[in-house]
Amino acid sequence: MSPYEEVILDHWRNPRNKGRLADPDLVGVEVNPLCGDAVRLELKVAEGKVTDVRFDGEGCAISQAAASLLTELVKGRTLEELRTMGDEELLSALGGVIQTRLNCALLPLRALRRALQNSPA
Ligand code: FES
Repeated sequence: MSPYEEVILDHWRNPRNKGRLADPDLVGVEVNPLCGDAVRLELKVAEGKVTDVRFDGEGCAISQAAASLLTELVKGRTLEELRTMGDEELLSALGGVIQTRLNCALLPLRALRRALQNSPA
């Protein structure tokens, strides 16, 4: 099994931070129009930093595993840092994603960017 497959399987079987926050400060939802799969990302923010995060959604193993992994990457980061977070950081944490599944892997990152659009500058 490749490192990429191991990461996906681990997060798919044991998703981190799955569910909903009681009172999120920022929420972003993205749907992949090609398949209808969706990821919802909720953030709790204090003094410009993410203090808690949850994801929810329905979809393929890659999109849901990437969402789980993304929650680990965003916790404790500033909103400023997250605004400049590139695709490469998530893709590299996933261990390299095959080209045909990029839309799946980046769906949660698009949900994060949508959530950040809802935040004050
Ligand atoms: Fe729909 Fe992966 S097949 S997001």
